[in-house]
Amino acid sequence: MSDKLIDVTEKEGVVRLTLNRPKALNALNSDLITELNKVLVELEQRSDLRAVLITGAGEKSFVAGADISEMRDKTPEEARVFASQALTTVKRIEHLPVPVVALVNGFCLGGGCELALACDWAIASDNAIFGQPEVGLGVIPGFGGTQRLPRRVGSALALDLITTGRKIDAAEALRIGLVNRVVPAGELDAVAEELTQQFAGNGRQAIRSAKQAIYDGMDQDLDSALALETSLFALALPVKNKVKAWARSSRSASRIFESAWYD
Ligand code: CAA
Repeated sequence: MSDKLIDVTEKEGVVRLTLNRPKALNALNSDLITELNKVLVELEQRSDLRAVLITGAGEKSFVAGADISEMRDKTPEEARVFASQALTTVKRIEHLPVPVVALVNGFCLGGGCELALACDWAIASDNAIFGQPEVGLGVIPGFGGTQRLPRRVGSALALDLITTGRKIDAAEALRIGLVNRVVPAGELDAVAEELTQQFAGNGRQAIRSAKQAIYDGMDQDLDSALALETSLFALALPVKNKVKAWARSSRSASRIFESAWYD
């Protein structure tokens, strides 16, 4: 393992990012967030990516949250800058055009859980522990947890976890849909390999469009979201070039595509 805050390795288009502050259980401080942001900006430029894996260094922790020692003395204005920087960074994960998989190897708390929530997939080791313990510190989740957690598990469970701050094990995280799979601790890499092979067998543009349709669609009313799906579906077909020009507005693109389809 390098001494960088993010260790980046790559194999056949699959990039693995290891958050590397094991002595602090990979807590997210400003330097680590800045470095992660920088790496993600570089990945955004790449057209040859297949998938991105995000994990934590060491066997004990994925990420134990925002760095409490850095966070605790911030003024409201400094805290706003800190949270905005983190939110911009995790948003880049959602916007990457390839699947991003969190390999959760141990503690996944606070900002760590929020980072995992921004990933498309989460595979947890059977000893992983999840939680949003911020209220115990007198704060609330600040890296997207109050928004992404209810979208992932529903508002009742999100309120339960966020207002009690209770920690849950991997089995419960799987049961409530917070993670996709739970595997024995030593098998995280093998399962990630199997999963990325599955991605590699599928259309790159199709995966990109599916991701866009799901995330952008969730923020829209149903009709607009369905129109977006129609546009992205249309773009995938052989009439690609004709439809491309219409894609600027999802509503008009879908209308025009529908009439072209039935003509
Ligand atoms: N920030 C900074 N340092 C942290 C940290 C964090 N979030 N979590 C752990 N560490 C550090 C500890 O201070 C300790 O450092 P030292 O060895 O220098 O003392 C080291 O990591 C190991 O931690 P512990 O000795 O506490 O290990 P443990 O096995 O006894 O306990 C733990 C593990 C239950 C995860 C415990 O460390 C813990 O509760 N950590 C804090 C978890 C937390 O509250 N996270 C939320 C942070 S706030 C947040 O994330 C806000 C937001 O939404 C943006």
